[in-house]
Amino acid sequence: MASLAELPRAAAAAAPAAGPLVPRVVRVERVHRETRDTVTLALRLPPGDPALEYRPGQFDMLGPLGTGEVPISVSGGAPAAGTVEHTVRDVGGVTRLLCGLRPGDELLLRGPYGTAWDAEDGVGGDVVLVAGGIGLAPLRPALLQVLAARDRYRNVVLLYGTRTPRDLLFSRELDRLRRRRDVVLEHTADYAEAGWRGRVGVVTDLVGRAPFDPGTTLALVCGPEVMMRLTATALVDRGVPASRVRVSLERAMLCGVGLCGHCQLGPLFVCTDGPVVSWDTAAPLLVIRER
Ligand SMILES: Cc1cc2nc3c(=O)[nH]c(=O)nc-3n(C[C@H](O)[C@H](O)[C@H](O)COP(=O)(O)OP(=O)(O)OC[C@H]3O[C@@H](n4cnc5c(N)ncnc54)[C@H](O)[C@@H]3O)c2cc1C
Ligand code: FES
Repeated sequence: MASLAELPRAAAAAAPAAGPLVPRVVRVERVHRETRDTVTLALRLPPGDPALEYRPGQFDMLGPLGTGEVPISVSGGAPAAGTVEHTVRDVGGVTRLLCGLRPGDELLLRGPYGTAWDAEDGVGGDVVLVAGGIGLAPLRPALLQVLAARDRYRNVVLLYGTRTPRDLLFSRELDRLRRRRDVVLEHTADYAEAGWRGRVGVVTDLVGRAPFDPGTTLALVCGPEVMMRLTATALVDRGVPASRVRVSLERAMLCGVGLCGHCQLGPLFVCTDGPVVSWDTAAPLLVIRER
């Protein structure tokens, strides 16, 4: 008989291997420490697993065995080779356990859930991605999608704000991006540190002078709520229509599939109507406090 800690694993193994509602036991293949409190987990999924079919912007529910689950966006991976990546910041009970996982460890995963960035709507125009802190992780698959079809877009601009210079995610990838002539990357840190020669200030400050044509721009914004509100307002002030600014909403979740109402925000269930919504939908709702 399974012990109490093994029960979720036993249940997942006994569940019919069909549909994105069923949690699957998956294995950690690699762990990359991004910063002092954030890691990227590359997870090995069985062939045909629905989570390999994710669209950029979607999330999975992840749960270390014998504990709860939390929503975590897909941050990349090589689905054709059977892996997906999630970048997790340690902020509490479940995320701490996720950040402590090692290669070979098992956990539960179900998904993919929610709406996507749909960056292809920007084809033929400029694409501006604005990230704050861990918000770069949900944006990364959209950025990679745009770069994979670079010639179909005009300007590609990434504006990235971190708390300190040391909080930079995907630093090697960003170094490579900086060397590209067909991408504009601007990074700013809220607080300087000794020896830092980069920009200091909030990411919103970068919107005003970034090289994009507001009339053709699709903007994708992810970060803390206040950052998204200020950034979306700055983009709209520059002339980007609110319907062409997309943000990724965050609310506490239980079911992830529109059944429990835990993630309700006004008329929306963030898990199914979001997380990605356009700014004209989000703006009037972000005054509503999280439950
Ligand atoms: C659609 C969606 C996608 C997400 N994608 C990611 C992702 O890619 N990477 C990632 O690291 N997180 C992501 N999150 C946030 C993540 O789900 C939460 O950090 C997690 O649920 C916290 O659970 P916990 O048990 O670790 O913390 P808890 O024990 O529940 O909380 C501990 C403390 O942390 C605070 N806290 C809770 N959530 C957050 C938060 N989001 N930010 C800051 N403080 C918080 C609580 O108020 C509390 O004080 C996403 C959330 C949603 C809704
Ligand atoms: S988390 Fe249950 S309805 Fe959204």
